[in-house]
Amino acid sequence: MIFSKSINKYYLKFLPYFLMGIISLLIVDLAQLEVPAIIGNLVDDLEAYRTGEYSEGQILGIINDLLLTLTLIAALIVSGRFLWRLGIMGGSRRLVYELRNDMFDHALKLSPRFYSERKVGGLMAYFINDIQAVRRATGPGMIMLVDMIFLGGLVFMRMFMIDARMTMVLAVPLFILAVLGITLGNIMRQRFRRAQEAFEYLSDDVQESLSGIDVIKSFVKEDKEIRHFLKANKNARDKNVLFARMQMLFRALTRIIVSLSFVLMIFYGMQLVELTQDTADPFTIGDLVAFLSYFSMLIWPMMAISMIINVRSRGKASLKRIESILDEPIDIVDDENVVDIEEIRGDIEFNNLTFAYPDAEEGDDPALKNISFDVSAGEMIGILGRTGSGKTSIVDLLLRLYNLEENSLLIDGVDIMKIPFKKIREDIGYVPQDGFLFSDTIKNNIALGVDDDRADMDKIQEVAQLSDVHDNIVQFKHGYETVIGERGVTLSGGQKQRVSIARALAKNPPILIMDDSVSAVDTSTEEKILRNLRKLRKGKTTIMIAHRISTVKNADKIVVIDNGEILDVGTHEELEARCEFYRDLVERQQLEDEVEGQ
Ligand SMILES: Nc1ncnc2c1ncn2[C@@H]1O[C@H](COP(=O)(O)OP(=O)(O)O)[C@@H](O)[C@H]1O
Ligand SMILES: [Mg+2]
Repeated sequence: MIFSKSINKYYLKFLPYFLMGIISLLIVDLAQLEVPAIIGNLVDDLEAYRTGEYSEGQILGIINDLLLTLTLIAALIVSGRFLWRLGIMGGSRRLVYELRNDMFDHALKLSPRFYSERKVGGLMAYFINDIQAVRRATGPGMIMLVDMIFLGGLVFMRMFMIDARMTMVLAVPLFILAVLGITLGNIMRQRFRRAQEAFEYLSDDVQESLSGIDVIKSFVKEDKEIRHFLKANKNARDKNVLFARMQMLFRALTRIIVSLSFVLMIFYGMQLVELTQDTADPFTIGDLVAFLSYFSMLIWPMMAISMIINVRSRGKASLKRIESILDEPIDIVDDENVVDIEEIRGDIEFNNLTFAYPDAEEGDDPALKNISFDVSAGEMIGILGRTGSGKTSIVDLLLRLYNLEENSLLIDGVDIMKIPFKKIREDIGYVPQDGFLFSDTIKNNIALGVDDDRADMDKIQEVAQLSDVHDNIVQFKHGYETVIGERGVTLSGGQKQRVSIARALAKNPPILIMDDSVSAVDTSTEEKILRNLRKLRKGKTTIMIAHRISTVKNADKIVVIDNGEILDVGTHEELEARCEFYRDLVERQQLEDEVEGQ
């Protein structure tokens, strides 16, 4: 059983389960407790029958009663066991279900900053291993704790009542066991934590290798990856072996101490039987039998101490890790006095904005410097710049993935920090540079941003046609119902891009942002899509980001950006006339096109 602010509320929520479980467990323990006493009495009764104290009729009567009692006790134990499993195990499963939901919920609220610091593969371990450890600590861990305290305590009392001297003899081995449990428990806890960390690293390694499998294969880097994996795997194995070794050592020592205690008790008990034979309160053979069988009942609670320490320390360590996620502050939150906007019109104003990524090193150049330009609702503008110039960063800010200084970016004249961030993201259609497609049908991928009731097939086909991907889709065996393989492997890069465009168009948003979204399609397809877009987006704001002139040439205005700074803003003609950087780009790309065309 472990307690912590993040899970206490669930104990409370599922209190009926845990209570029912604990009460049944106590009843089972009480019932069990009677068995050694009954057996001990039987031994003494049989002895009395042997010496002629009881007649045959009497002894048969006694055995009859005994059978009845034992049957009742057995029935009680069986039904009680069923109920405590149902209660405590059921309660703990419900508890981790809620905890996992909370984690996922919170994880989805965390910003890109968090995900740039933590790796996805490693985070997976939190949802699987750590949750498992918490479940063990709250389910089996609780059972063991209750059992150890209650059963252990009662058994000890019974033993004491049978004979205090015999019980005192046991004090020494029991004390040794307790000391052992505490010292070795500490070492086990440390080793477990290291094993868990090694696993996290391993899981991360596998995730990364498998996600980058195409690159690894094409660069024939399998050997290197295998060596790397082997190292991580070995490390995980070694850390686990170290932990298991300590666990084994502890178990073995416990067993040895228990066995020695039996020897000690039999030896001392027999002498006691002889010595007290003729006294008023003799220690009988039956007492010794009962005592030994109580002691064997004590073994489980004693072993449980080590398991409890083990399970609890794992559970606590895991819960700490889980809480490190749950306590991770959510940086993107709405301002207290948000401005409610019915629907975004599409005016955008960058106002001398400078932005550095939160994980950037001190002294690094900010990703964006003194950015100022504005877009009126309905305009189609282009943002042109080389790779790494800061184009995607501008989009990240427009989507409010990061917090900004006051009034540095306004939408419809309102500071973006004052608009509900969900509203912003709802009203912006965004085609990312590397459009991620879910392993779902093409239809559902396109309909992602659309409310269920508006996602009709006609609409989906229409946007697919506008994105020039409809013809490709109907050629698949299952058409729109084709399930896209993991990471879109069954679609070509260009097809993926066009499905992503269709997905954004299906939303028909007031602001559409295309981040280099036609880079993987050929120029004639690009032209077709752009023509469709101009028609479709009439009166709505569209931002086309590109490193290719052809994509932005016909925009109402083009923002030329390099090194995080705006070099110039103007139409294609204006820029050709006055911007050297732009002219250079145009020339270079003309050359490239000619080379390609040959
Ligand atoms: N999440 C991030 N954290 C830190 N730096 C980043 C992050 N994303 C991009 N950058 C840096 O910001 C600069 C601009 O990148 P980006 O906006 O992606 O360029 P573009 O889209 O024009 O290729 C680059 O120097 C890049 O290394
Ligand atoms: Mg980019």
